[in-house]
Order: sequence, then structure tokens, then C-alpha cells
Amino acid sequence: MKKLQMNDLINEINDALKKSIPESTLNTNLEESMLYSLNAGGKRIRPVLLLLTLDMLNEDYRQGMQSALALEMIHTYSLIHDDLPAMDNDDYRRGKLTNHKVYGEWKAILAGDALLTKAFELVSYDSALSDTKKVKVIQRLAFASGHLGMVGGQTLDMQSEDKAIDISTLESIHRTKTGALLTFAIMSAVDIADTDEHTSAMLNEFSDHLGLMFQIKDDLLDIYGDEQKLGKKVGSDLENDKSTYVSLLNKGGAEDKLNYHRNEALKCLDKISDQYETTNLRDIVDLFYHRDH
Ligand code: IPE
Ligand code: IPE
Ligand code: MG
Ligand code: MG
Ligand code: MG
Repeated sequence: MKKLQMNDLINEINDALKKSIPESTLNTNLEESMLYSLNAGGKRIRPVLLLLTLDMLNEDYRQGMQSALALEMIHTYSLIHDDLPAMDNDDYRRGKLTNHKVYGEWKAILAGDALLTKAFELVSYDSALSDTKKVKVIQRLAFASGHLGMVGGQTLDMQSEDKAIDISTLESIHRTKTGALLTFAIMSAVDIADTDEHTSAMLNEFSDHLGLMFQIKDDLLDIYGDEQKLGKKVGSDLENDKSTYVSLLNKGGAEDKLNYHRNEALKCLDKISDQYETTNLRDIVDLFYHRDH
């Protein structure tokens, strides 16, 4: 079987996202504001991860396409709100002015709200999944996005500004604000493929390490990254007096944690590699480790 190529998947995701929001019948330009951020050129790592996991589990990746688009919509909404003056107050995202800088604050809030809601509408209409699987995916997406997942993590992150917190609190911030959606990417594929318990447990653990890796790297890039490559301003965390892996452990300590979670993630893949072709997921681990944007 031909190995799925990440770039092909990204093109397919981008094309589908462009068509995902129909034009307004209400004479507003809210859709323009939604599409502005959605099509601004993110890395699409979450939808790609969902589709690659499904492919690894020997399922047709197209079954996960609507869930993958929904995930990218929720991620994009989280970024629009994260950049607002009331939160991180950032002016650039994905190489462009942030949504509120272009459309104003109230419309940015509403564009985020509408993307969040649209995500659930997409999955509910998905004809590639049985009703039972759809409900599972919707439940998992609601949990990952909500008060015990991404939104909960964003709340903890905001509450921890200007404060000294310990590493275990920071870990739970990263697990929720960032890890939860990455875990959804992998575990919704597990739901769709209906895999055995061992594989499910290994992939769940894998996703936890991957989520922590992703945000540790994000913390490092916020200080040591290149603005042009990142498409967002560096120094945002320092400006907001955020607790990050770098502020708590310094550069070396953050890099040690990144290494630790990389090795643990790879060990999880070792435990299922007699059953599945794990090369694509190993490549994702490498990408998370080496990424510069
Ligand atoms: C940025 O996510 C926000 C975090 C959770 C760290 P990404 O780095 O995936 O951003 P895009 O989607 O490529 O813009
Ligand atoms: C954001 O974390 C996580 C979410 C949007 C859920 P950050 O605030 O560190 O993300 P960036 O650095 O602005 O992309
Ligand atoms: Mg933030
Ligand atoms: Mg931010
Ligand atoms: Mg950051």
C-alpha cells in the first residue's frame, strides 16, 4: 500500500477547509472573518495527526476527514481567542495580523464562537461514520475542547500569570490547553478504527507525551524562535509573565523535558510496532522535536 504523504494530506485539508463555511445569508461578513483565520496557513498538524493515525490503524483516512476539519476549526477558534487583548494580546498569527486587529474584538469573539459551533455541526452531518461512532467522536471532542480540556487549560494559564507555580501545575496546564486537542486527534482515530485495548492504551499514552512535547517546544520557540518562521511574535510569554517550561526550568531543563517526552513517546510506538507500521507517527515525533515553527 502507498504510504500517505503529509503534504498531500495538508493540501486535501486546506482545500476542504476553504469550502467548509458557506457564504452568509444574513448579510454579515462573519464568514469572511472565520475564513480569514482558518485559511491563514497553519501547519495543520492536528488534522494530519488524526488522518495518519487512522491510516496506521489500517482504516481509510477519509473516514476521519470531517472530524479532522472540525478539530482544526476548534484549534483555530482557540487561537483567535488566545490572541485577544483580554488574553495574550498578540498582533500576529500565522504570518498575518490577528483576527481582532483586522475585524475588531467583538467580531473576533463571534468568529471564534461560530467556528466552535460549526465544528460540531460538521461531525453531526458526517456521512462517513455510523451514528454510534459520530456520538463517540462528538463526546470526545466536547471533552477535549471544554472546561476539563483546552478551555480549562486556558483558564489555568491565565490564572497563573504573574505567579510562581510548580512544575506539576505547569504540566497540567500544558496537558489541557494544548495536549487535550492533540489527544483528541489520536484517540478519535482509535474510536473510529475501534482498536483493541492494548493499542488504545499505548496511543493514549503516546498522545500525552506528544502533547507535552508540542507545548514545551512552543515555550522554547517563544524565546529562541524566529518571528518570520513562526508567523507570530516572540517574547509574548515574557511580556505576559506566563509560567512556561523555560521560565521554570531554564533552556536546558526545558530541553531535557522535551527529550524525555520524545523518548517516552517513541517507546509507546515500539510497543505496537509489531502490529502496525508506525513510521509516519515516528516522523511526527521528529517533526515535533525539530520544528522551528
Ligand atoms: C499554536 O499551535 C498554539 C499551541 C497550542 C501551541 P500551532 O503551532 O499548531 O499553530 P498553527 O496551527 O500552526 O498556526
Ligand atoms: C495557546 O498557548 C494554547 C491554545 C490556544 C489553546 P499559547 O498562548 O502558548 O499559544 P501561542 O504561543 O500564542 O501560539
Ligand atoms: Mg495563551
Ligand atoms: Mg498565545
Ligand atoms: Mg506560546
